[in-house]
Amino acid sequence: MQNFVQYAPTEIVFGKDTELKTGQEVKKWGGHRTLIVFGGGSAVRSGLIDRVENSLTEAGIVSERLGGVQPNPRLSFARQGVAKAVEMEADFILAVGGGSAIDTAKAIAHGAANPEFDLWDIWTQKVPLTKSFPVGCVLTIAAAGSETSDSAVLTNEELGRKSGIGTELNRPRFAVMNPELTYTLPKYQLGCGIVDIMMHTLERYFIPNQKNQMTDEIAEGLLRVVIENGRKAMENPSDYDAMSEIMWCGSLSHNNLTGLGREKDFSVHKLGHALSAKYDAAHGATLSAVWGAWAEYVCESDYARFAHFGEKVWGIRAEDEKEAAKLAIGRTVAYFREIGMPVGLKELGIGEISEKELRELSMNATMGGTVKLSKIKELGVDDVYQIFQEAN
Ligand code: NZQ
Ligand code: ZN
Repeated sequence: MQNFVQYAPTEIVFGKDTELKTGQEVKKWGGHRTLIVFGGGSAVRSGLIDRVENSLTEAGIVSERLGGVQPNPRLSFARQGVAKAVEMEADFILAVGGGSAIDTAKAIAHGAANPEFDLWDIWTQKVPLTKSFPVGCVLTIAAAGSETSDSAVLTNEELGRKSGIGTELNRPRFAVMNPELTYTLPKYQLGCGIVDIMMHTLERYFIPNQKNQMTDEIAEGLLRVVIENGRKAMENPSDYDAMSEIMWCGSLSHNNLTGLGREKDFSVHKLGHALSAKYDAAHGATLSAVWGAWAEYVCESDYARFAHFGEKVWGIRAEDEKEAAKLAIGRTVAYFREIGMPVGLKELGIGEISEKELRELSMNATMGGTVKLSKIKELGVDDVYQIFQEAN
């Protein structure tokens, strides 16, 4: 087990009607003037924004709305948010939605607290980020884990680049999580969320340093719970218990708990981000589309680990480690298919991808070929190209 620091400071306010506590929460964490950041309309249509706004008013908090965050949130929109937050002298940024709204809120908080700097310079850490405004969130989709994570991701549409920033300043002060708010999710988004939650744990699991029994058991347990309840939720999206399990797993999967004591490796995410930046594909879908090809490519470096995963998560037992590893990969891919997720690039609905585009994607995923991906087997730009080709 490697040295680690466990720090997951976000307060979780979980359960039915908890959105009615939003005002009290913002007040508790020092907010007086709040910018409410949300997406393309689901939270307005469900009446959630009105309920949240009322709760803020009851707590004596001044608020303004900023709707229109798109999935794969854009830098330009976040810039508009910074201007609005500065103009209204906001001291608290509240996201209502999923990863896209929360990441935009985080970006606005950083930009508004440092108006002398350009937001992209902050994002790419050209200038140091030493302060931010507090962020809170009301979660409406279990997926990205941004409600507890130390990261945030934006797309710079001018550069065609999707990239993240990791900092403790990204941790929301609180996350209101009412599973009932997720009942209106389209099944595709539900599936994307299930994949993303699994992936946040898998990206911490296939790492060379594996002497870490407790962390392994947490990860394997979380994966089993997501898989089982993912099936139930697909069957009945209003199953409160299934949605509760998935939502809680989403937060635990990305607050670092499932990777304590070892490094993490977000290589499948890098491939996914390259796809989202170019084709605006949904995040979770990009991950299921490439995971199988990635796993097949790297598993020869550690059949035992894949076999162990297969036994603990899927109940697979086989004499031969290689056979068990292959079965485990096959079962995972079959599950993605079962919940309606793409398991190849062609299924992403973005048309034919040319060889030239695959090269371009490989360059983008590896920062122009300068970065090696994956820890279980080191991947250069040519390896990434082969994985994209396999997935195509
Ligand atoms: O915009 P609205 O109308 O709200 O619709 C959204 C959007 O179209 C819809 N939706 C959300 N809740 C709903 C709902 N529709 C009906 N009922 C509800 N209750 O779902 C769509 C997707 O929303 P989005 O916020 O984009 O989903 P998600 O939570 O999957 O976030 C994805 C973004 O998070 C980033 C991804 O890269 C992507 O940009 N990630 C952020 C991370 C982080 N900050 O730690 C880590 C992740 O790995 C990920 O990279
Ligand atoms: Zn993710």
